[in-house]
Amino acid sequence: MSPLEEAARIIARSRFLVALTGAGISADSGIPTFRGRDGLWSRYRPEDLATPEAFARNPRLVWEWYRWRMEIVFRARPNPGHLALAELERMGLLKCVITQNVDGLHQLAGSRCVVELHGSIRRVRCVSCSYRAELSEPPREIPPRCPRCGSLLRPDVVWFGEPIPRDALEKAFDLCERADAILVIGTSGKVMPAAMLPQIVRSRGGAVVEINIEESDITPIATVFVRGRASEVLPKLVELVRELVGQ
Ligand code: APR
Ligand code: ZN
Repeated sequence: MSPLEEAARIIARSRFLVALTGAGISADSGIPTFRGRDGLWSRYRPEDLATPEAFARNPRLVWEWYRWRMEIVFRARPNPGHLALAELERMGLLKCVITQNVDGLHQLAGSRCVVELHGSIRRVRCVSCSYRAELSEPPREIPPRCPRCGSLLRPDVVWFGEPIPRDALEKAFDLCERADAILVIGTSGKVMPAAMLPQIVRSRGGAVVEINIEESDITPIATVFVRGRASEVLPKLVELVRELVGQ
């Protein structure tokens, strides 16, 4: 049996399947990943652009970088990998997607249950008051100001050194404690606490199905590793599952 067929069997017989996604699932939507050959962190230093200290030091520079990333995200469309996960949810198999991505493409693909561990680049929030807003395009002037109190607005994403939003973290842990299988797609598995979620499923006897173009820090605990691009593998997986469950 091929890894793809084994993965399909695990999904078809799962009772509570969740997914953990990383930048790799959005690569084929034209959104750069962070690590690996042409990743963002090979060209920029996270400590200069994705930390509260960097923002305090130079909000304009940080906003220039985020405006560039927002322009890419607002142009991006969900790819067949995102659409396949939404289909698995519609089939009643996938309960929820836990994502490290901030691009909102799972929701645009039709996934209804999405836990955003690292926030969303489509949202901004005020550094002083409770103002927060969903944007439909990058801000014209940067750094943008809060319309309520005049303070700086920042991207509503989690920077290095910042805590994951409590409700997202609690929901992610609760889902993984109930899961009997987890799809781990397009993540290097290097950033906590996301990287520990597959371990929770595994330690309770659940299956870990990894889809990646190369091995990651998750691979050592994977029940099955399917080498390939998420946008190509996931649609094939859904078709095999459909045959097995007769939908
Ligand atoms: N299909 C499947 N996997 C892919 C594809 C693809 N088309 N392209 C790349 N990958 C894999 C890479 O092999 C790598 O394992 O996706 C992974 C991307 O890893 P990272 O760039 O480290 O992204 P991610 O794991 O999501 O990073 C986690 O780090 O910088 C922070 O907050 C940021 O959410 C991000 C977190
Ligand atoms: Zn404000």
